[in-house]
Amino acid sequence: MKTLKNLCLDELADMYYAENHLIKALAKLAKAATHDELREAFESHLVETEGHIKKLETVFLSFGEPARSKKCEAIVGLLKEGDEIASENKSSPTINAALIFGAQKVEHYEIASYGGLREWAEELGNHQAAELLQEILDEEKAADEKLTEVARQCCNKSARNGSSDAEDPNAGHSGRSRGIRPGRAKVKA
Ligand SMILES: [Fe+2]
Ligand SMILES: [Fe+2]
Repeated sequence: MKTLKNLCLDELADMYYAENHLIKALAKLAKAATHDELREAFESHLVETEGHIKKLETVFLSFGEPARSKKCEAIVGLLKEGDEIASENKSSPTINAALIFGAQKVEHYEIASYGGLREWAEELGNHQAAELLQEILDEEKAADEKLTEVARQCCNKSARNGSSDAEDPNAGHSGRSRGIRPGRAKVKA
C-alpha cells in the first residue's frame, strides 16, 4: 500500500530526473536562440536549474532518503517535441518564438509539479521541504514570466513580420551591442 510520503518521494524522483535532463536541454536552447535577451534568459534559468537539483537533494534528505531518479515520460516527450519545433523553425524568423513556445510547456509542467509537491510536503508536516519546493516554484514562475515578456517584446513580432530579431526595430535592448556571444557564458556542455 502506498502512503502519501511514498507518493511524494516517487514524484520528487520524477522531478529529479526532469531537472537533470533540463540542464542539457537549456544549454541547447541557449545555443539555438538568435536573440540575445532570450539566450540570456535560457542561460540564467540553466544556472537556476542546477540549483533546483541541489534543492531537490536537500528535500530528499529532509525526508530521510537519498536522492533518486525515476524516468519522467512527460519531460522526455516535451523535450522531443521541443527538438522537433526547433528543427522545423531553424534558420527562420520564427525560431525564437518557437523555442519560447516549447520552453514554456516545460515550465508549466514544472509549475504544476512543484505546486503539488509543496502541498504534499506541507500536508506531511515537512516544512523545510515545503519551503524549498516553494523556492523552486517561484523560480519556475519567474522563468515562465520572463519568457512571456521576451516573446511579447520582440520574438513574436519578429516571427509575425518575418524579420530576424537583429533587424527588428522592436527588438529592444537585445544585448547585441554588448557583444554577447552565442551560448557560451555559464553554459556547461
Ligand atoms: Fe526547474
Ligand atoms: Fe524550469
